[in-house]
Amino acid sequence: MAQINIEIDGKAVQVPAGQTVMDAANQIGVYIPHFCYHKKLSIAANCRMCLVQIEKAPKPMPACATPVAEGMKVQTHSEQAVTAQKGVMEFLLINHPLDCPICDQGGECQLQDLAVGYGASASRYQEDKRVVFHKNVGPLISMEEMTRCIHCTRCVRFGQEIAGIMELGMSGRGEHAEIQSFVGRTVDSELSGNMIDLCPVGALTSKPFRYQARTWELARRKSIAPHDSLGSNLVVQVKGERVMRVLPLENEALNECWLSDKDRFSYEGLNSPDRLTAPMLKQGGEWKEVDWQTALRYVAEGLAGITKEHGADAIAALVSPHSTLEEMALAAQLVRGLGSDNVDFRLRQTDFRADGKRRGAPWLGMPVADLNSLDRILVVGSFLRKDHPLVAARLRQAVKKGRGTQHRPRHRRRLADAGARQGNRRPGPLWRSAGRHPRGAREVEGRGRAGGAGGGHADG
Ligand code: SF4
Ligand code: FES
Repeated sequence: MAQINIEIDGKAVQVPAGQTVMDAANQIGVYIPHFCYHKKLSIAANCRMCLVQIEKAPKPMPACATPVAEGMKVQTHSEQAVTAQKGVMEFLLINHPLDCPICDQGGECQLQDLAVGYGASASRYQEDKRVVFHKNVGPLISMEEMTRCIHCTRCVRFGQEIAGIMELGMSGRGEHAEIQSFVGRTVDSELSGNMIDLCPVGALTSKPFRYQARTWELARRKSIAPHDSLGSNLVVQVKGERVMRVLPLENEALNECWLSDKDRFSYEGLNSPDRLTAPMLKQGGEWKEVDWQTALRYVAEGLAGITKEHGADAIAALVSPHSTLEEMALAAQLVRGLGSDNVDFRLRQTDFRADGKRRGAPWLGMPVADLNSLDRILVVGSFLRKDHPLVAARLRQAVKKGRGTQHRPRHRRRLADAGARQGNRRPGPLWRSAGRHPRGAREVEGRGRAGGAGGGHADG
């Protein structure tokens, strides 16, 4: 691709043609203030916070929407640029409530941060501020303070472009513009929590985390997602000994900057009052809390009794696949110590005929990041959007790029057989239209249908 030479704040930079001034600035580490721009979303250019001065341009231009041109000279912190940016900030703060001390986003709010640099110490606005009524969109996302919304439309674009389900939209214009779901519907998609991360202000916040802690009170631990079978990277945020929140950790090779709702919100189970936290024994038909010594002695005696009466083979351990490797190893050691070899973790498998016949460990056969560029995709026996929401999001990107949209009805049966033979080692064909297909096979659709790759039959 042709390279373009431009200058940003006096620094020369070479970028591929077609990139924007924002991309070029990011490449050399120059920060341009922004709200609506996000590297994974389309350009909306509706907040105007990224206005910069460009030589020969009659007025400041939005860096996120201005393509680079040969010899372009950009000033991001000149007097003209900063005056424009401060003007935009003043407009944004006309209606945004100044409630940082009680706002849940305080400490991690893009608007709060930028207001420090670009906001004035007092407002010239004397009129009444507008008020936007709160909305209830379900148990995960709080839309209690929609007056804070700055209409960047990141949440709307995320639904449209990444999740494949447009659950939020903007109604009205100008001062009457509002973000809302379609006629009071709830937000139910499997990636909805990412809209909370994307919101640059405290308009969309996490309902379970709301008012539980301040961001600076939390310690951070890197971890791996246990539910999406992708190993998404995440950060567990802890206060004292309690997990308070889980957020994605960016990894382009796996989850990019997203996280599925099941991995984001399942930490709530850890703090559930229904959770068993102390050993209990059933005595006289009633569960009673006992100390660990009593419980362990009871179990040891029980196991010894079974071994004596029925033999060691009568003992087996079915370990949850959610256990850690260390827990599994200890369980195996215990059962083997009792003389039994019956240990398994495949709790949902009923057919074991392939045992010992497969060579090596089954795997995807390609890096996860390459899923976006597949030509053909055959999904067998999985409702991708529910089972693997982030894989579905990647396949959706592939379909959006125009890949795999061929319609081959006459060869469908033959392609199905070929895809089934290839198993999960090589990508099979992608069909477009509904019709006969092998039992359990799900179609990944091309353009022209809400939900795209991830949407499948659920949205059709
Ligand atoms: S709710 Fe947040 S993400 Fe959505 S448009 Fe408003 S400010 Fe932007
Ligand atoms: S970030 Fe460029 S206009 Fe919003």
